Amino acid sequence: MRRLTLAIVTGLAIAPFAAQAQDAAAGGRVFNQCRACHTIDAGGRNGVGPNLHGIVGRAAGSIEGFRYSANMQEWRQGQTWTEENLRRYITNPKDVLPRGSMSYPGLRNEQQLNDLIAYLKTQS
Ligand code: HEC
Repeated sequence: MRRLTLAIVTGLAIAPFAAQAQDAAAGGRVFNQCRACHTIDAGGRNGVGPNLHGIVGRAAGSIEGFRYSANMQEWRQGQTWTEENLRRYITNPKDVLPRGSMSYPGLRNEQQLNDLIAYLKTQS
């Protein structure tokens, strides 16, 4: 019985860390949907979309030399890519920028979205 209790307690202590590591790895695979247009390495080139290094907490529309849509140029004033803004935008880009230029239909799967956010956080 004591051994069982110990196993349960150890399992509970380790589970959150194991889940987190897995999430970011799974999120890296979800990010493959974004790679057609975005790089995420430090100083990576801009493609159809801007480089996304350090996107969590980054000022919106702030990549020098990237031609953002007029809609983004209006909206970005004082805006930051908080986790909440990112979730809204990635779930449905038109919800944040109805006339934005990101042609991505949106990611509706919540688990995949959680994994993707975990991955984005590691890329800073
Ligand atoms: C078909 C190309 C394309 C795909 C696929 C795409 N994006 Fe984008 N993304 C863009 C473009 C273009 C913009 C600039 C939007 C604007 O100016 O309105 C953008 C902008 C962004 C921004 C704002 C960056 C900034 O500097 O403020 C984020 C965040 C972002 N994309 C995340 C993602 C994620 C995450 C995915 C995958 C789930 C993804 N994008 C898929 C083209 C794409």
